Amino acid sequence: MPRRHSRFVRIFGTIVFSIVAVLFAALIINAFMNGGKPLTTLVPKGKYSQDIQNLIIPVFAIAGVVFVGVMAAVLVISWKFRERDGDDPDEFPEQVHGRTVLEIGWTILPALILAGVAVGTVITILELNKKPENAIHVEVTGQQWWWQYKYDVNNDGNFDGPEDITTATELVIPAGREIALTTASNDVIHSFWIPGLNGKKDAVPGITSPLNMQAKDPGIYRGQCTEFCGLSHANMRMLVRALPADEYDRWVANQLKDHAAQPAGADAQAGRKVWESLCAQCHMIKGINDAKLKENPPPLVSGVAPNLTHLMTRGTFAGSIYNLYTDVQSTYSGSNGDNLGTDPTNVAAAGNPGDVLFGATVDSEKVNRTYLEAWLRNAPAMKPMYAQGGRGMPNLGLTEAQIDQLVAFLETLN
Ligand code: CUA
Repeated sequence: MPRRHSRFVRIFGTIVFSIVAVLFAALIINAFMNGGKPLTTLVPKGKYSQDIQNLIIPVFAIAGVVFVGVMAAVLVISWKFRERDGDDPDEFPEQVHGRTVLEIGWTILPALILAGVAVGTVITILELNKKPENAIHVEVTGQQWWWQYKYDVNNDGNFDGPEDITTATELVIPAGREIALTTASNDVIHSFWIPGLNGKKDAVPGITSPLNMQAKDPGIYRGQCTEFCGLSHANMRMLVRALPADEYDRWVANQLKDHAAQPAGADAQAGRKVWESLCAQCHMIKGINDAKLKENPPPLVSGVAPNLTHLMTRGTFAGSIYNLYTDVQSTYSGSNGDNLGTDPTNVAAAGNPGDVLFGATVDSEKVNRTYLEAWLRNAPAMKPMYAQGGRGMPNLGLTEAQIDQLVAFLETLN
C-alpha cells in the first residue's frame, strides 16, 4: 500500500521539479539577456545600477551552486535509497544524527557563505549611499499620480528660488553627471524606481530620503511607481531623459524662463482665457499665475498639480502614460503616439519633443492631438482618478471649441 503511493509521489515530484527548474532557468536567462525590456533590473545603465549588478552576479552564482548542489543531492539520494521490491516497508533507515564532523561542517559552511555575502552587501550599500561630489540636486515628490521634480539650479540649498526649476513627469539629467535626489511625498507613500539607474526608494510623506543616480549614456530610462498608492498606481510612471551635457545646459536655460506671451493666434488667446478661468486654480504657469497660486494653493490632497510652464518640452504627459508627440524617439518597434495607451508594449515609447526641449516653437503637426484632446475632454476616462476627493484631474465639461482653443494655448508652452 505505501509502496504504490510513494512511487507515484516520486515520479510526479520529479516531473514537477523538472518543469519548475526549466521555467526558472528560462526566466533567469531571459531577464539577463533581454535588454529591450524597459524595466529590467539586470541591464545596468549607470554607476549605481552597475554597483548593484556587481553584487547580484556573485550572490546569484553562489545561490545557484547551492541550489543545484542541494537539488542534485536530493535527487541522487532519493533514487539511490528508494524503496525496492522485497524491502521491508517498516524498516527504518540508518540515522546519521550525532556525526560531529557532518554537524560542524554544515553549520560552518553556510555561515561562511552568508558572511561572505554580508560583506559584499554592506560594502555595496555604503557605496550606493555615499554623498556624491559635484552633484546636481533634485527634489523628487510623489503625488497621486505623477512625479514633481525641483532642481536646485544655483545650488544654494533652496529649491524654490527664482534661479530654480520646478517641472513634472520627466526627470531631465545630463549623462555622466552625479544626480543627488531626495524623495518625498505630498499625500501617500510612493516608491521611486528607475531600474536601469538605481534601486528603489520610497517617497514618504514628512520624510526625505536620499537616492543617487547617474546615467552612463544619453537616453531614455523608464520607471514605475512601486508602492501601491491608490487608483492609478499602475499609471504613475517615470521617465528619465539623459542628455549630453551641452544639451542639458540648453534645457536648463529654457526652463528658467517664465512663460513668454507670444504673438499668438486668436485660438491661443482664447485658450489662455479658458486656462486662466478653469485650469489656473490648480496648475501653475510661471509668468501667469505663480503669485496667485502660492497664495491660494489648489484644493487637492497634494496641494500641487503639474507645473505647465514648459509643458511642451516634455515628451509625455499624465504621469508619463501618454505621448505628447506622435513621432516617437524610441528603439522599440511598433511604437507610435496614436496607439499608446492601449498597447502595453508601448510603455517603452517616449514622445520626442525634438528642439522644443530647448524652447523651439512647437510644430502643431507633430503634437499628439488625439490624446491631448481626449485628456482635456474627460481626463478620468483616460486615467482612473478620484478628482472629487481632491486626487487627480476632473472632467471639466469643456466644449469642443474650448478644447481646440486650449490645445492651441498649450502649444505655446515651450
Ligand atoms: Cu505612486 Cu504607486
